[in-house]
Amino acid sequence: MSNYHIKNLEEYFQVYNKSVREPETFWEEIAEEHFLWRKKWDKVLSWDFKKPEVKWFENAKLNITENCLDRHLATRKDKTAIIFEPNDPNEKSEHITYGQLHERVCKMANVLAENGIKKGDRVCIYLPMIPELAISVLACARIGAIHSVVFAGFSSTALATRVNDSDCKMVITSDGSYRGKKQIDLKGIVDTALEECPGVETVLTVKRTGAEINMKDGRDKWLAPLLEQASATNIAQEMDAEDPLFILYTSGSTGKPKGMVHSSGGYMVFAAYTFKNIFQYQEDDIYWCTADIGWITGHSYIVYGPLLNGATTLMFEGVPTYPDAGRFWQVVEEHKVNQFYTAPTAIRALAKASVDFVNKYDLSSLKVLGTVGEPINEDAWDWYNINVGDGKCPIADTWWQTETGGIMISPIPFVTPTIPTFATLPFIGIQPALMDAEGNEIKGNGVQGRLCIKFPWPGIARTIWGDHARYRDTYFAAYQDKYFTGDGAKRDPVGYYRITGRVDDVIIVSGHNLGTAPIEDAINEHNDVAESAIVGFPHDIKGNALYGFVILNEERETEDNDQLRKEINQEITAQIGPIAKLDKIQFVPGLPKTRSGKIMRRILRKIAADDAKDLGDISTLLNPEVVQEIMDDAL
Ligand code: WTA
Repeated sequence: MSNYHIKNLEEYFQVYNKSVREPETFWEEIAEEHFLWRKKWDKVLSWDFKKPEVKWFENAKLNITENCLDRHLATRKDKTAIIFEPNDPNEKSEHITYGQLHERVCKMANVLAENGIKKGDRVCIYLPMIPELAISVLACARIGAIHSVVFAGFSSTALATRVNDSDCKMVITSDGSYRGKKQIDLKGIVDTALEECPGVETVLTVKRTGAEINMKDGRDKWLAPLLEQASATNIAQEMDAEDPLFILYTSGSTGKPKGMVHSSGGYMVFAAYTFKNIFQYQEDDIYWCTADIGWITGHSYIVYGPLLNGATTLMFEGVPTYPDAGRFWQVVEEHKVNQFYTAPTAIRALAKASVDFVNKYDLSSLKVLGTVGEPINEDAWDWYNINVGDGKCPIADTWWQTETGGIMISPIPFVTPTIPTFATLPFIGIQPALMDAEGNEIKGNGVQGRLCIKFPWPGIARTIWGDHARYRDTYFAAYQDKYFTGDGAKRDPVGYYRITGRVDDVIIVSGHNLGTAPIEDAINEHNDVAESAIVGFPHDIKGNALYGFVILNEERETEDNDQLRKEINQEITAQIGPIAKLDKIQFVPGLPKTRSGKIMRRILRKIAADDAKDLGDISTLLNPEVVQEIMDDAL
């Protein structure tokens, strides 16, 4: 009998040690006992980080939706699978049982197939947090189409880039979306994007807001009438364990977004096993993750992880502060939420509001709290612990990445003693290593270095869509035979990990990964801009905010600096989306560069953080004099 549910620290160490000593046996037992396979694997694991190549459960056959849905029908047909909580608290929430979800997914799968989608085709899903989003994801998986969910806050340009990068044949969207007080014209954004996407043949449109929209003849179809006519029977497509399940884009430090490709078998096992243990889910619990399904957190811990475990998962369409800062806590009370998983940025935003917004509601149902997305600061941790958890709910500070598919370092609630701001111990099967600048592993405790993983785990992304060389260069080239995360970390005297943040040019704003390059490209689109560099600086709520250093052309069209700042942010909103807007924009005569022409962001980061007393060695700069000029005008 494998240990599917870790109960105490001793058991954690025992299972962890086994997972490291005999990873194949360990994961094989988990996979065998807890999932439905049409055919078992020939080999548990083949890997070579040099190529790089990772294969789990080779030649096994399955369909993940049979594991999420069909196999629960015998025991959980009438159990709620999804609770949908709309943006507007006055609109009724919806409970979808496993039986109903199965039927809706089968119908949707049939609609996709009738519209020409086959195994291996890419389908872009650009939807708000409504049930159709989860249903579309599962319907794609059911017929073996590769879903690419694009967060519905991205601009038309960002959407077009992603649609084209993976040659999506279809887009699933809605007439509009609600976000707090705002109504957003999603279909209009799709229409603009698709002017640049000749490969898209069909747009399926969900009616959500009832807004007036354009329907392009021959391309755009309303979803509801198609679903009405669709059969409720659908035989799931047989997938190989290594067939791609989905693509999810994440920003890099350079170039276009990376379409991380996740597998069908390994991802399933990892998402399910991490969910079960880290949220300590019990059969009748109500689990809520506040992320958007447009991010990996939503894929693994709103849709797949919970459904694989037969859990009840809550999907929330709205925002934490609408109609007021008590919205989250009102939802917790209303649905008696037991596990609550959110981001430090949301906690900080809500901690700014009066604590009355929390105290007004009965949060006694809560058992486990979680955070993800960025390092959580101690104040936010304490506030969450005391005001939300009443000091009784363990906080799982979960460190992981789009690339890892699931949680990698985290306390196991009720098992691992927590310390504020520490992600604590590696999850079962995860072998972290800290590396120094020379490429040596730093052994022992009480040390700090760059965080790598030494051994494959089932959830690791297998490649970057269309660019395996970039996958190798980004993750496997920095350190021999190791996966490099891009993060720095400390290991304290007892072996607990604390993630210190990115060591590359990715900036985490409000828990979202923003690469510097695409934002700088957007700024540089402005006619008056010659060059730009952005860095993150500490921000109370967002964790980091963006500070832009911008060199203007000598001949300018716009003389008004405030107007220019506005236009630059408009450019960013148009190219990427409002999440990437700059908080501060400083116009500078030059940027500090090395002799090889690389911008020394380290210096700009210090200036932005108002911490420019000790800039370190700037003698290697091509233009050291510019540093003082930038400092004199710093905002
Ligand atoms: C950061 C989100 C500290 C980290 C699941 C990582 C964290 C990046 C934590 C991945 C945490 C995520 N503590 N930092 N608990 N969780 N990060 O791909 O820098 O959107 O590399 O995946 O977020 O962001 P991504």
